Amino acid sequence: MLIELPKHAEIFGCIKINEVQKVLKLESEEVQSELLRGFSKEEMEEILQRMCIVVPIKDEKMHLLDGVLRSIPLGCRIVVVSNSQRGERDIFKMERDLVSDFYRVTKHPIALIHQKDPGLGVAFKEVGYEHILDESGFVRNGKAEGMVVGLIIAKMFGSEFVGFVDADNYIPCSVNEYVRLYCAGLSIANTPYTMVRLHWRYKPKVIEDRLYFRKWGRVSEITNKYLNKLLAVQTGFETNIIKTGNAGEHAMTMKLAEIMAFSTGYSIEPYQLVYLLEEFWKGETKYREAVSSGIDVYQIETLNPHIHEEKGDEHIKEMLLQSLATIYHSKLSNEKLREEIVEELKRSGVIRRRNEIKKNKVMPPIAEIDVAEFQKLLDEYSETFISFG
Ligand code: GDD
Ligand code: MG
Repeated sequence: MLIELPKHAEIFGCIKINEVQKVLKLESEEVQSELLRGFSKEEMEEILQRMCIVVPIKDEKMHLLDGVLRSIPLGCRIVVVSNSQRGERDIFKMERDLVSDFYRVTKHPIALIHQKDPGLGVAFKEVGYEHILDESGFVRNGKAEGMVVGLIIAKMFGSEFVGFVDADNYIPCSVNEYVRLYCAGLSIANTPYTMVRLHWRYKPKVIEDRLYFRKWGRVSEITNKYLNKLLAVQTGFETNIIKTGNAGEHAMTMKLAEIMAFSTGYSIEPYQLVYLLEEFWKGETKYREAVSSGIDVYQIETLNPHIHEEKGDEHIKEMLLQSLATIYHSKLSNEKLREEIVEELKRSGVIRRRNEIKKNKVMPPIAEIDVAEFQKLLDEYSETFISFG
């Protein structure tokens, strides 16, 4: 993998947000220069061994999950967290069969759990992390909730890096690139508190009878605009440094992941940036080591386009609302920005009244969870957790 090194970054206290970097070559020798960094196969493999890839999934086509799993590079562990349908039409059972077959054939270490596993609820309750549970004691619905489950399991496995990839990807080999980009980004960092967020080069769509290579997703462009405005509220300088507000494909060092707070559902990705700024730039964080080491955010543009399942207008509207709500309710925001967000959401037909912009639920960092105890509880009570390799 050969990538550009960032030529420019913007600094917000201890947080450094780097401008978007491009991929120059998918494979490379080791290169270390002022402008470029190339990773040899051996270097990549060394990082992959320390990484866990979490795949959140809810009722996706088996074909898509199958392609995603087969494309994840060798070396890293995989954790699939499912919130798929059970009962008569048991999609989760199909996922379980697929995962078992995948391991039988490939011997790639992989684990699977259902988000609504009662034992998972018990384990969270017993270790004092009820923030993720609903009133009945089950883990709440939501992509973010699935990701937090995956994160704890990755920590249980002792992974030093954790990355996330969606299961509904129509181009399996793009996932291979995503994971390698995580490795590249995580290893150019100078601090153990690092995040890598991917920016898709194109998000193609069929328009009339032709594949049109759109540059931006419908939600991302708007989320980025308001995240950048949030920065400008505080600094007085306009910027467009943030290009990955909704980056579902992202990775972190475990040291950073465990001190992050996570916002529910699809607001998780924009909130990661809002949280970092609130906590480590303008806040009085207790995580002092992160402040002294510094936090690096890398944004890397993929070579592959991203083609995934189209989930309809209502889904897009919900995602936009949740994303902008994190900015609207941020303590870094001001009345003028809030007014602009209200207008944006009304214009896009997402809300009619301001009070529809509800504050998202936030799950605090997992750093204090006793992971050994969590594992013990999971082993004892879980009905769905399987782990191979
Ligand atoms: N475990 C779990 N639990 N997984 C879920 C849940 C849930 O409740 N809901 C959705 N997922 C899975 C989906 O099956 C898919 O694999 C992944 O999470 C992403 O969900 P999508 O519904 O496909 O979201 P999207 O494609 O519209 O949005 C994605 O890209 C955005 C950036 O464009 C997501 O990754 C967003 O978070 C991201 O902002
Ligand atoms: Mg999708």
